[in-house]
Amino acid sequence: MSINHPSFGKLDDSRVIIFDTTLRDGEQSPGFSMNLAEKLRMAEALAELGVDVIEAGFPIASPGDFESVQTIAQTVKGPVICGLARSGRADVIRAGEAVAPAERKRIHTFISTSALHMKYKLRMEPEAVLAAVTDSVTLARQYTDDVEWSAEDGSRTDPDFLCRCTEAAIAAGATTINIPDTVGYALPEDLARIFTMLRARVPGAERVIFSAHNHNDLGLAVANTIAAVRAGVRQIECTINGIGERAGNAALEEIVMALRTRPDAVACKPNIVTEKILKTSRLLSTITGFDVQPNKAIVGRNAFAHESGIHQDGVLKNAATYEIMTPESVGWTKSNLVMGKHSGRAAFRDKLRALGYGEIGDNQLNDAFRRFKDLADRKKVVYDEDISALVDDEVMRDHTRIRFVALDVHAGSRVKPTASLELEIDGEAHATTATGDGPVDATFIAIRQLFPHEATLRLFSVGAVTEGTDAQARVTVRLEEDGKLVDGQGADTDTIVAAARAYVHALNKLLVKRARTEPEALSA
Ligand code: KIV
Ligand code: ZN
Repeated sequence: MSINHPSFGKLDDSRVIIFDTTLRDGEQSPGFSMNLAEKLRMAEALAELGVDVIEAGFPIASPGDFESVQTIAQTVKGPVICGLARSGRADVIRAGEAVAPAERKRIHTFISTSALHMKYKLRMEPEAVLAAVTDSVTLARQYTDDVEWSAEDGSRTDPDFLCRCTEAAIAAGATTINIPDTVGYALPEDLARIFTMLRARVPGAERVIFSAHNHNDLGLAVANTIAAVRAGVRQIECTINGIGERAGNAALEEIVMALRTRPDAVACKPNIVTEKILKTSRLLSTITGFDVQPNKAIVGRNAFAHESGIHQDGVLKNAATYEIMTPESVGWTKSNLVMGKHSGRAAFRDKLRALGYGEIGDNQLNDAFRRFKDLADRKKVVYDEDISALVDDEVMRDHTRIRFVALDVHAGSRVKPTASLELEIDGEAHATTATGDGPVDATFIAIRQLFPHEATLRLFSVGAVTEGTDAQARVTVRLEEDGKLVDGQGADTDTIVAAARAYVHALNKLLVKRARTEPEALSA
């Protein structure tokens, strides 16, 4: 069986579409917000990874969201660019305008269909919901032939009503039907039953792609997604590192590798360049400041680490004894001594290309090279991870109002900690000296002196990029102002310098956030 899809043409039954919602459902979760430059960078990385659809945001949510969807639609080539809309006219029109510049565009419109949501959240009668399904999809089709309709809380919806809504959406022109497990309540067999039923009962079901969107409240999002694919679903909605509302969404890397590792059980192939998975996961961690847990499947630090003697012995004899996929297939390389203080700019540029930073601009290259030389002077061994941390740090700081220039700290058990700090603010150099209760405190006071602000420090966390006492520290700083939270990151062999960089990064993000209009309360 094959389907003729407006964006993908003829799709045979073994093809599964990867719909990435890192920039929408993922970005919606607390602490994971990204500014325009970060979203754009992430969208480019998703395109390189080979995702089929990027859900770039929720255009009606705020002018900032509209701008990021529109900019991604203008700039990112390859994937279909999608904007989310509730069923109201204003939402659909705004989504249509935001995705308009894309070569291939999709509007994703949704409404709740469960009795619980209709009664308490929407306060709408089922017949009014049904009419809204038809109206929203019909309007969306005026902007694009590629329209997705979702039944929010679909997994808890009465089966007959779900069939009626799906039928209405297909009749109005929807080309993808998504049934979310919005609250992460379903078990794999529930989803298999729902999709099997819809495909058997709904007129026109054979013309559309069915899609699964699973939340992870019971830790079942990936298992539920695989069950849905086995029941005929051919679009998977997922996020990098599984980020998303509450416990998150199904993790792209886990689903893709499950499909790739078990073709005997699920004969569906996603078009993902799996070797770029780790790099994309790390980029997201760098941007958001949240590392994945060490035992996270595929991308966690321990995902391919063998500690016990018995396992190590087996792996040395034949890796397949304890590895069901190769680390290289998802982008892990052996951490090796890459470069030293005598390495030149050309070698550094080559290294960056090998690490996947081909597109880095000359200014960023110069800054990163200067910092690499400095690092090579201070650190015995420079690993690939060190270089990635340093370049990510530079790239994140592009187009910012406040730039870190230099910091000297005097601290110890007998002196009052003192920080002498230099920042560039809107292109002008500013310097000050401050004392505090500790070197970090003195540094943060100095930043406040140079750039006065009211934000409160909510989180200060330090991790190491690699191992050893000479490892670079990666610091995360969370600031809060008027209920808005932002996270900043910084990396350096000197923990206090990393802290200053992280604080300045957070401050820059806050300035971007201040400029954005506060989104109205939306449910999605
Ligand atoms: O979880 C959900 O129901 C959603 C929809 C908007 C697709 O995110
Ligand atoms: Zn969701």
